[in-house]
Amino acid sequence: MDGNGRWAKKRSLNRIRGHRAGTESVRDIVRASREFGIQVLTLYAFSTENWKRPAREVSALFELLKDFLRSELEEMMENGIHLNAIGDIERFPGDVLEVLRHAMDATKANQRMTLNLALSYGARDELARAARLLAQKCVNGKMCVEDITPEAISAHLYTVNLPDPDLLIRTGGEARLSNFLLWQLSYAEIFFTSVMWPDFRKEIFLQAILDFQQRERRFGRIGAQLIESPR
Ligand code: FPP
Repeated sequence: MDGNGRWAKKRSLNRIRGHRAGTESVRDIVRASREFGIQVLTLYAFSTENWKRPAREVSALFELLKDFLRSELEEMMENGIHLNAIGDIERFPGDVLEVLRHAMDATKANQRMTLNLALSYGARDELARAARLLAQKCVNGKMCVEDITPEAISAHLYTVNLPDPDLLIRTGGEARLSNFLLWQLSYAEIFFTSVMWPDFRKEIFLQAILDFQQRERRFGRIGAQLIESPR
């Protein structure tokens, strides 16, 4: 969800106003995802690197997150949305964690869509954490070194119960991954757009999905093989 700061700067507003406008896009895109029948929507809302931003901006982001979670809970319940978080959420202040845990708990039985928020998330930290968990199991004799397969690694990531993403969308004109889901995005289709996140709404989201639907996903094979079995 890149480009909030630049969106604000262009309008001579402070960066926080950009994040506030970005929250409106979050609402719009969550609703659109539900409408389009998307099963899992993951939003990169706060990275491990974002902790280095000015304290004022960090706490404004926390306030926006709390407001969003409180104001959207009812709609999430009505629409069968399960809220999940990936990342080192224990680093968050108690009040943020409380609102987050409440929303996750209240929506845990909802099954129509998962809204997955990446919060204090960094893929390298996630992979290092998985390596530690696996190493500990080997040390404790619960598994052998030979059992460390790609599946075992996936099972020790924050995304354990979630499918790998099919499509990655990055707004704001940059063409990089910025430590996001590095393992899980191995075969994802990528859509980069120069549209700033606060301007990213349902119409352009639909364009990204239509673009995705034109891609031939070969997963390392040749096109002719896909007719027999697509995956
Ligand atoms: C990146 O843009 C955006 C963020 C670091 C924060 C994203 C947060 C929100 C959209 C609002 C709160 C989230 C939820 C889920 C309610 P940037 O600040 O790096 O933009 P820039 O590159 O233009 O400076």
